[in-house]
Amino acid sequence: MMDVGILLILVSLLRIATIPSCLSDPSDESCLTHLSKSLQDPSKKLEDWTQNNFATPCKDSTTNLKGVTCNNGRIFRLSLNNLSLKGTISPFLSNCTNLQTLDLSSNSLTGPIPPDLQSLLNLAVLNLSSNQLEGEIPPQLTSCAYLNIIDLHNNQLTGTIPQQLGLLYRLSAFDVSNNRLSGPIPASLVNRTGTLIRFNSTSFLGNKDLYGYPLPPLKSKGLSVLAIVGIGLGSGLASLVISFSGVCIWLKVSERKMALEDGKVSHHMPDY
Ligand SMILES: *[C@@H]1O[C@H](CO)[C@@H](O)[C@H](O)[C@H]1NC(C)=O
Ligand SMILES: *[C@@H]1O[C@H](CO)[C@@H](O)[C@H](O)[C@H]1NC(C)=O
Ligand SMILES: *[C@@H]1O[C@H](CO)[C@@H](O)[C@H](O)[C@H]1NC(C)=O
Ligand SMILES: *[C@@H]1O[C@H](CO)[C@@H](O)[C@H](O)[C@H]1NC(C)=O
Ligand SMILES: *[C@@H]1O[C@H](CO)[C@@H](O)[C@H](O)[C@H]1NC(C)=O
Repeated sequence: MMDVGILLILVSLLRIATIPSCLSDPSDESCLTHLSKSLQDPSKKLEDWTQNNFATPCKDSTTNLKGVTCNNGRIFRLSLNNLSLKGTISPFLSNCTNLQTLDLSSNSLTGPIPPDLQSLLNLAVLNLSSNQLEGEIPPQLTSCAYLNIIDLHNNQLTGTIPQQLGLLYRLSAFDVSNNRLSGPIPASLVNRTGTLIRFNSTSFLGNKDLYGYPLPPLKSKGLSVLAIVGIGLGSGLASLVISFSGVCIWLKVSERKMALEDGKVSHHMPDY
């Protein structure tokens, strides 16, 4: 009985001890500090993003940090979309370990998507669309098992689409249209079985070297069919023209021959 009582007291002491540390989480502070360094804010939209605000980003439920939403003392949403931000995405964003939504869409961000985002095990929404991000789509994102939304459209991403992403069984929105991706579209995303969402061509359009179902056949193939028809029609016409002019030349030549022979004849004529 005594032991249980001591345990209960210890547990409640521990609880009290952990509450203040929630209010100033060192991971979240590191996350914001590094992110604010990697981002450039030429339009001064993030004026309250100062170091002394990073120490306690979640000190009350309604944080005053722009784009930051907290839950239980931890950052759970970062929405910095359409703020004319430049710079890169810090790999230390992975320190915001309770993040569920990361929306940096419609800015001018450059550089790669950090594979370190794989540490964000609660991430459900990843929207990095309409930036100028480069490099490959990190296959490590497959570690974020709760991902519902991956929106990477309108960037400059290269390489192939990792087929492992098809393992994300909660995925309900996937958009990589208008990038510079290449290679085959993974069947794991478009030919999924059972209740898994199957993504259609809308998700993949606007990537010059991406091919396969559900995209329409490559444009160059369509063109070559047209070209063959064109060449066929053209050569038909050309041979018509050539044979016609051949006939004309033959007619002219034989006319001239005739005339010459006529001349010969007429030349001989006076002899008669
Ligand atoms: C932040 O993330 C880096 C790299 O993922 C890690 O090495 C570091 O320990 C983390 N820092 C904190 C305070 O969690
Ligand atoms: C983006 O922000 C600008 C103003 O800065 C605004 O005019 C525009 O409507 C916004 N676009 C979206 C999609 O929210
Ligand atoms: C991602 O953000 C853009 C706006 O910046 C929005 O138009 C788009 O719908 C978002 N994607 C998803 C899948 O919600
Ligand atoms: C996916 O299914 C479609 C139609 O059922 C089929 O035409 C296509 O070849 C399949 N693609 C792959 C990569 O298995
Ligand atoms: C693709 O799927 C979306 C919804 O998931 C739908 O709105 C759109 O019309 C579909 N597009 C095509 C070409 O089937």
